[in-house]
Amino acid sequence: SNEQIALFTIFGGTGDLAKRKLYPSLFRLYRKGFLKERFAVIGTARREWTDDYFREVVKESLIDFDSSENELDSFASHFYYQSHNVTETEHYHNLKKLATALDEKYRLNQNRIFYLAMAPNFFGLITEHLKSEKIVTPDGFNRLIIEKPFGTDYNSAAKLNDEIRGAFEEDQIFRIDHYLGKEMIQNISAIRFGNNILESLWNNKYIDNVQVTLAEALGVEERGGYYDKSGALKDMIQNHTLQVVSLLAMEAPAIFTEKNIREEKIKALNSVRIYSPEEVKQNFVRGQYGAGKLAGKEFINYRDELNVDPQSETETFVAGKLMIDNFRWRGVPFYVRSGKQLTEKGTRINIVFKPTPINVFRSENETACQAQDTPRNILTIYIQPTEGFSLTLNGKEIGDGFNINPVKMDFRHSADTLDNSPEAYEKLILDCLKGDSTNFTHWDEVAQSWRIVDVIRHVWDQETTEFPNYASGTMGPQAAFDLLERDGFNWIWNPDEWYRERG
Ligand code: BG6
Repeated sequence: SNEQIALFTIFGGTGDLAKRKLYPSLFRLYRKGFLKERFAVIGTARREWTDDYFREVVKESLIDFDSSENELDSFASHFYYQSHNVTETEHYHNLKKLATALDEKYRLNQNRIFYLAMAPNFFGLITEHLKSEKIVTPDGFNRLIIEKPFGTDYNSAAKLNDEIRGAFEEDQIFRIDHYLGKEMIQNISAIRFGNNILESLWNNKYIDNVQVTLAEALGVEERGGYYDKSGALKDMIQNHTLQVVSLLAMEAPAIFTEKNIREEKIKALNSVRIYSPEEVKQNFVRGQYGAGKLAGKEFINYRDELNVDPQSETETFVAGKLMIDNFRWRGVPFYVRSGKQLTEKGTRINIVFKPTPINVFRSENETACQAQDTPRNILTIYIQPTEGFSLTLNGKEIGDGFNINPVKMDFRHSADTLDNSPEAYEKLILDCLKGDSTNFTHWDEVAQSWRIVDVIRHVWDQETTEFPNYASGTMGPQAAFDLLERDGFNWIWNPDEWYRERG
């Protein structure tokens, strides 16, 4: 059977993440039969809640599901609440008692998943107590799921890691990067290693440049307090973007298993060039949104957002050029960009191939050197909001003469598949239940990502900026476009027709 057996203890059980993502994900797993009778959830936080109240909150988080009161009740009956102050040892005794009781009641084999869905200040303290108060059991499995941010730079991340490693081994730690749970991020490996016509060309001989865009249409919303201390570099580049880059750049694993994939990803990250301060200035640009118009709506300056410093120097946009110094990628720029309040929500990867060596379709009075290149072949991977990929190839334009014209072979998963496609969190929680950490970030990846990003942050911290420097509803500051133009390239960003069609 597919049934998974475990006790979840969710720190931050009253929080936003728990309500928006975790409870709905657990419910989906329940409906699919991955969770049946033998699971229980302890929600814990400072507030004093009763089990009944907690269960009502859980049920409310499932409002979007079309389900019966009966089904909701039997699911929610597995939820228990324990008010808890993470700094008080005594409270861990109550937690332990409850865990032991639930273990027996639901026959959970002492399998335990601890989910830290809260600010990281207390991660060390919590994990230390889980161990010292023996809530971590010797018999079943013990797994720790932690949310980002994992540190704010290399040093703080290393410190945090040491604290956690005092209680959990690396293979018990599941660091969430929810991008790794996305269907099309996982599909990158299928597209690469399942297609000889692509993988044989996947190198500096045939690829001109790689473009990774993680664009958001939303601003900081109500997260100004967190975001203003973080900024786009730490919020999106250090984690999600570099993970995508490592999946695109890695060598084929010997076999598609956790350990082999991990080794290759780490090798790829280790080959990303760490820039000197001078190189940072040449290769990375930052932006902050100003007022503007998007889809007919007016938007305010970032600096006027709730809980944001009116003189904030925090970037809401980053574009950069990464170089990967290994045999495969030497000389191929990986352009990355991510920002808030851009033209549209769109996560996309463009693999831009080199033009044919010579344009034989040039006119007779041009030499091969004078002629324009043939249009470049482009593989686009659509991560979201639509999911699929397209390949742009050249063909002959229909009719007289002989004009070369790019045509797009375009595939998208249908809307139906999309609706059933498990949400990132659901997939990742299931992976954790099964003990599969392929789609989580290993410490070595986190460490190397911080090393890459720290030098950029450091240079930026020394310099003042002229913000805002892009209007909401645009694709970022001019400097982000200049970055590619200097190299003779352009950001490839065609409208995603499939999205528009669907509305
Ligand atoms: C989070 C960032 O990690 O990812 C947010 O903290 C961002 O600022 C979000 O909005 C984007 O995720 P998604 O799944 O909507 O692309």
